[in-house]
Amino acid sequence: MPASTNQLLTPITTTVNQDGHLSIGGCDLVELVQKYATPLYVFDEETIRAVCRDYKKAFSSYEKVNMMYASKALCSLATSALIASEGFGFDVVSGGEIYTVYKAGVDMSKVLFNGNNKSVDELLLALDVGVGRISVDNFLELSLLDELAASKNKTVDILLRITPGIECHTHEYIQTGHLDSKFGFDLTQIDEAVDLVLNQYKNLKLHGLHAHIGSQIFETKVYHDEIEILVKELARLDKKFGLKLDEINIGGGLGVKYTESDVPPSTFEIADVILKSLNASIEKYGIEPPTLFLEPGRSIISTAGVTLYTLGSSKQVPNGKKYFAVDGGMADNARPSMYGAEYLAGVANKPDSELSQNVTIAGRFCESGDILIKNIKLPELEEGDILCVFNTGAYNYSMASNYNRVQKPAAVLVNNSQSDIIINRETLDDLISKDIIPDRLRA
Ligand code: LLP
Repeated sequence: MPASTNQLLTPITTTVNQDGHLSIGGCDLVELVQKYATPLYVFDEETIRAVCRDYKKAFSSYEKVNMMYASKALCSLATSALIASEGFGFDVVSGGEIYTVYKAGVDMSKVLFNGNNKSVDELLLALDVGVGRISVDNFLELSLLDELAASKNKTVDILLRITPGIECHTHEYIQTGHLDSKFGFDLTQIDEAVDLVLNQYKNLKLHGLHAHIGSQIFETKVYHDEIEILVKELARLDKKFGLKLDEINIGGGLGVKYTESDVPPSTFEIADVILKSLNASIEKYGIEPPTLFLEPGRSIISTAGVTLYTLGSSKQVPNGKKYFAVDGGMADNARPSMYGAEYLAGVANKPDSELSQNVTIAGRFCESGDILIKNIKLPELEEGDILCVFNTGAYNYSMASNYNRVQKPAAVLVNNSQSDIIINRETLDDLISKDIIPDRLRA
């Protein structure tokens, strides 16, 4: 089975240039730092496009596939426009994500709105901009959406989010398909939901079922199990209600390679399992081939992104451990402190130097838990060296905060030796722009 881009540790354009510096997208990372400062998120356009093309190629033998990118992994105007230009639609989970893809010029009929507690305002925005599908998560949302659709004289195209009862072996916080998940209708609630849509909620049109089992998945069998359940449900609902549903959305979840020991399957391997299972289930349950929706997030954007930091203070503790601190940390990458996530890094200004010591990379935020990388082999280091942490494209900027009142970093997109700012660095004034001192507190 061919390899794919999500199986790489670094962006596909990563090289060491003639100055002996790391380069991505033809841009010298040391020069990027001189131009844009640190911390800096860098995204490689070629890598993003390569993953999108891997996905399209891997699923090309099935006629009806709707590829959507899960915006929660990283949502910005530029990346939305870029991913849309590869023919992808979008899975969005908030008014903010809807607004971003809308403003990026995305075809809203290719957008699906997910979420377990969508607000009235968010649902109204979705109706106003005409998102293509809403994946309804629960009974409250069914009735609310029907009412809102009626008030706008619209029929809304929906899927039902279901919990298939499948456990995958990933971090407990990023499993979603197991039975006691907070997401979706469990299998025993589907009939009641369908009955309500068919007989009571006249402003909703049901097209199919949606599930998502988890994230950073390395096993392929879970997709087989998921498809079997979804197709079986489609056939059962046809028998019981005479209802011909023709869409299944299997969510996202394909893993990426953060460290040498991570071995995620390729897009081609999961496509093989998914399409074989789909074709077998179609035959077994005797249904018409449904349209297959996929909504990968991490595997589209993670490998394309790196974060550059400048090394500052260092400390040798009595037990022998050596800390080096960088000018970012848990506010621009929450994943190590939140999930114990591990990352690989290199030194951008001397990538070929001998890896001579084990060090711990500490963040600059005021928490002992703000450690970016525990125990990594790096060359001799000094203040001012540029650390390049790989595979930070997904769930880093999107989960970034202003903890300690630190400005969020800038992001640049690199391609063909050109770099463009796609997200400006926050300023000190940005940080206080929403603050108000009531008059009575003014001197
Ligand atoms: N679809 C649904 C309904 C989802 O809930 C998710 C992710 C995706 C698609 C995309 O999954 P992906 O392909 O990215 O695995 N913050 C965590 C990840 C949370 C994932 C939440 N749902 C992390 O940093 O690992």
